[in-house]
Amino acid sequence: MPRFIVSIFVLLCLISCSQSFVEKKPHQAAIATAHPLATQAGFNILEQGGNAFDAAVAITAALAVVEPAGSGLGGGGFWLLHRASDQKQIMIDGRETAPSAAHRDMYLDQHGQHNKKASLDGPLAAGIPGVPAALDHISQHYGHLTLKQALSPAIAYAKQGFKVTPHYQKLVSFRLQALNNSPAAKRIFLQDGTPPQTDTLIKQADLALTLEKIAAKGATGFYQGTVAQLLVDGAGEAGGIWTLEDLANYQIKERNTVKTHYQDYQITSAALPSSGGIVLGTILNQLELFDLSDYDINQQRHLITETMRRAYFDRSRYLGDSDFITVPEHLTAKSYAKTLASTIDKIKATSNETLHTSTSKGEDTTHFSVLDQYGNRVSATLSINYPFGSAFVVPGTGVLLNDEMDDFSAQIGAANVYGLIGNEANAIAANKRPLSSMTPTFIENEDHLMIIGTPGGSRIITMVLLAILDFIEGKNAQEIVSSPRFHHQYLPNEVQLESTGFSEQEKMAFRHFGHSIKVLDRQYGNMQIIIYDKRTRQLDAASDPRGEGLATIQNIKR
Ligand code: GLY
Repeated sequence: MPRFIVSIFVLLCLISCSQSFVEKKPHQAAIATAHPLATQAGFNILEQGGNAFDAAVAITAALAVVEPAGSGLGGGGFWLLHRASDQKQIMIDGRETAPSAAHRDMYLDQHGQHNKKASLDGPLAAGIPGVPAALDHISQHYGHLTLKQALSPAIAYAKQGFKVTPHYQKLVSFRLQALNNSPAAKRIFLQDGTPPQTDTLIKQADLALTLEKIAAKGATGFYQGTVAQLLVDGAGEAGGIWTLEDLANYQIKERNTVKTHYQDYQITSAALPSSGGIVLGTILNQLELFDLSDYDINQQRHLITETMRRAYFDRSRYLGDSDFITVPEHLTAKSYAKTLASTIDKIKATSNETLHTSTSKGEDTTHFSVLDQYGNRVSATLSINYPFGSAFVVPGTGVLLNDEMDDFSAQIGAANVYGLIGNEANAIAANKRPLSSMTPTFIENEDHLMIIGTPGGSRIITMVLLAILDFIEGKNAQEIVSSPRFHHQYLPNEVQLESTGFSEQEKMAFRHFGHSIKVLDRQYGNMQIIIYDKRTRQLDAASDPRGEGLATIQNIKR
């Protein structure tokens, strides 16, 4: 092919594959997180002259202290960054890795059955954490302030304590038995083995010391030296398999984001080992083939459900850590979406048998969004998997370990704890990252931008999807986070509806299209969003009413 044709092709691809939207800086900054103290920590750092990336470091560390059920130094996450000065967009992959002694069948009992407790409770369930390495990396490569400055609010919270809330009590109660099995976790998070009263102060002196080590020495303060030795010894004594080499070898990865174009919007989202960006793209590409405005709300929900079904079916078959497996490239191609969507019946639910195994899980986790006064952005979703992760705190460190190993397929072809089916691409292997659903995302066109994400296990992706559709429809931040949520993930073959927000008529409509529905006994998600109107330079932000978070817009002295 002549070189000039190649150049034109490359140019067209750059324009269509990755648009760059020049925008004026906002007048103010906005932060939305799952805890008011974390939002406060972020603003504290912006006020000291930090940028959104310093604020992200401060918020990540603060959440590790004040929202221990959702994330922590013993966990991992994905930070989607947008740097205003050069429009660089990148995903920091701080996902946990399987220890080197991990193997495919490590959670199977003598009958070949998945021992579910082993992949959920205690240190054997824990991958090597990525959060401490990510804090150091983001601070060094993207921040203005020192790591020590950015970690100082979290250190203060760990020493002074945070107050027990009803949400904390609910999650502690859910994990009470497992927390009671870990003497250090019991001492820190419970009161005589029971959920503490509201307003009780939870102080974490050991965690403050570990944070101080990281503040002084960077990632080395966690992955090497005395903290590393305590982690390996403490995990090992309670049945874990971590080694000093596992910790010393942990590496964060900078990954290219996944970009999808829907109408005139560009959606920038998480890459593997999160399934988020790919599944979101597969759904949106299908939906683009229907003009949703031509359909009533019930027909729209039917079409959306069918696109979810197909995308989650592919998730189950193909997705896993791309450093270990080859993932088909066509999944986010527009032409592939045409093939998928051509099998959607506009008036009838598709039988799963005409397609073929799915996986996903994780109920807790956390999300935050930041836009600073320079136009830098962060959308970050962090996790220790189940509420309070593995419920095991390593003595002398204050570090609550994740149970992210449960995000792997512990048993190929059998249902996991959520009734979902495991798969080959996501089988356990030494040093591999478990497949995630975390979906930190930016969506923008010439006029508007939204920074979005939420916790919620396998439902994260569909929550982000519904919010994107609401945003495109013109809803404001509060309306978007408050919208009722529904979800389909191929298996189990049912549309899951939140306990409130759907009338009897709306439920009947799902049935009318041939869908089985399951009305959950609760609401789900804890979405944190920021919307920026690039024309007026006005900000809008909201924290999910289902949680106890705080979204704030503030002037920052420059
Ligand atoms: N642990 C939840 C997720 O990564 O999807």
